[in-house]
Amino acid sequence: MQRCKRIKELRAAIRVKRHAGQHIVLVPTMGNLHDGHISLVRKAREISDFVVVSIFVNPLQFGENEDLDNYPRTLEEDQAKLQREGASVLFLPDANEMYPDGQQDLTRVSVPKFNAMLCGVSRPVHFDGVTTVVNKLFNIVQPDSAVFGEKDFQQLFLIRKMVKDLSLPVEVVGAPIMREKDGLAMSSRNNYLSDSERNIAPALSRVLQETKERCAGKGKDLELLRQAELQANTVLKEIGFDIDYVQIRDADTLLAPALETKQLVLLAAATLGSTRLIDNMTFSAD
Ligand code: PAJ
Repeated sequence: MQRCKRIKELRAAIRVKRHAGQHIVLVPTMGNLHDGHISLVRKAREISDFVVVSIFVNPLQFGENEDLDNYPRTLEEDQAKLQREGASVLFLPDANEMYPDGQQDLTRVSVPKFNAMLCGVSRPVHFDGVTTVVNKLFNIVQPDSAVFGEKDFQQLFLIRKMVKDLSLPVEVVGAPIMREKDGLAMSSRNNYLSDSERNIAPALSRVLQETKERCAGKGKDLELLRQAELQANTVLKEIGFDIDYVQIRDADTLLAPALETKQLVLLAAATLGSTRLIDNMTFSAD
């Protein structure tokens, strides 16, 4: 596995492969790789032998009071895992390489409306930071395909919309959520949980699962969906979560469910102590 810290170096490594006709797949990450990330690398390896993984803790997508400085950085372990999984190139830029003119007056990519709902309400700068850095990574790597996890459902939605709106020549591939045995969605932020919080945390997926079972196939009953959201909210609050939102949306539009909705998604964000967890589940409306 080749390691590149500079854009120029990375482009040179990729150019050779592109000219040889290789399909290029990109897996963008912020590191501290767990089995969720690794599942994306495996999916990428199914698509092509030439897999580029990026590790960059993108300052642009963290709000002022968020965990940029504490975000777990485990480069040695990450490299060993990627080597084992057969990644071809690891791109490891620093903030100066990505944003040499600083962040203040940076050109940004923004997906309006959808960047301001759900997680965007409590994290107002987050998604513009994500779409800007992903667009930049696409321009640097020029991948044929890029793999993202469904764990970050809204992020995946926004990236697909950006690609469509800007006619970017990249196939966006989604990969299912990897969970711990007790159902907790894997996340680098799970490391922040205390032992007692870690015991409570799986209740998030459990309540989502129960709510999903209650609503699956009943998508035309909009009142039932609304009641189910409210109940999930109440139950999670009783368990000890500080709820950001629990919402059922049309999975194809990310808007409120309507009678013509085919696929629904139940999304939640909630805080335990100071750790913000997100999770989601999709199901059929009929
Ligand atoms: P990060 O949180 O490191 O996640 C990198 C990729 O791994 C994302 O596509 C995310 O959805 C996926 N992922 C995380 N946990 C997962 C799980 N339990 N199962 C399946 N996939 C999972 O998301 C980001 O970084 C950043 O916003 C990024 C896209 C790299 C832009 O900076």
